[in-house]
Amino acid sequence: MRAILKGLEPTQDPNLLVGFGTSDDAGVYLLEGDTALVQTVDFITPVVDDPEIFGQVAAANALSDVYAMGGVPLTALNICCFPGSGIDRSVLASILRGGASKAREAGAALVGGHTVQDAELKYGLSVTGKVDARRIVRNSTASPGDALVLTKPIGTGAIISAYRNRKVTDGTVAEAVRQMTRLNASAGRLMLDHGARACTDVTGFGLLGHALEMADGSGLSLRIRMADVPRFEESLALIKKGIGTRMTRCNLKLAEGRVRISGSLPEECLTLLADPQTSGGLLIALPAESAAPLVAALREAGDERAERIGEVVAASPSGLEILS
Ligand code: CO
Ligand code: CO
Repeated sequence: MRAILKGLEPTQDPNLLVGFGTSDDAGVYLLEGDTALVQTVDFITPVVDDPEIFGQVAAANALSDVYAMGGVPLTALNICCFPGSGIDRSVLASILRGGASKAREAGAALVGGHTVQDAELKYGLSVTGKVDARRIVRNSTASPGDALVLTKPIGTGAIISAYRNRKVTDGTVAEAVRQMTRLNASAGRLMLDHGARACTDVTGFGLLGHALEMADGSGLSLRIRMADVPRFEESLALIKKGIGTRMTRCNLKLAEGRVRISGSLPEECLTLLADPQTSGGLLIALPAESAAPLVAALREAGDERAERIGEVVAASPSGLEILS
């Protein structure tokens, strides 16, 4: 996708503050004064059988990109692909109800949407938010010495795969659903309060891919301590059994030659780092002295699994360093 975008002529508009050039989470467009619009769209295939919960997850996942920029959502539009036959219309109603509940929780007005007939069911939101143009949190502005904080555990890709084949415990699924339906709203607000310098949410490219984007964008390296990375308890066992996704292999391939491993890192750990996340947490770079207060505030606000996972180091070429 990034290779395709490279072939697109960049938009020349002085008000476009963040475009697609830096693989950031959302576009930002200066409106007037210091007020800028944050715009993003995201839609996904079902992650769980319950349509209302799927709607919640898809909406939380889409809203997340606004929070990752330091913004707050204002409005949302439903995007839905629905099969012409085989699935009852009541399923669509439940999905939309789930999405609407998350938009409401986010304080975003649901203003409309569009549904097309498609063989495969998909749902998500296009979200418009606002951000103070002086406080945009890009994914490319980390500084050497910054600490890295991750707000949610990783491993949802393997868990969703295992769930489809009924190979995962109910407890793990419940925990994953709890995390995936959780908005990154308080995390977004708290990172601003604690002086976040860079942020991205962890989604399809996995922690590995999104950390690499932050490293490359910032021209620095990210050092991550595997032992400190929050993960769903069962995720490593699932990966060890060979349960994963096609995306995991793509993510590993994209990171090839870019990751330096110190110590002995079991293969399943690297695979877990490449596991694609749905509605994952925020990866935040901030001044080191602010990391502990941020983690404490995140946990207090309900992101109980938030951890400091590493730091930003000056290194060239940019890349990742994983400590076992
Ligand atoms: Co994102
Ligand atoms: Co996104």
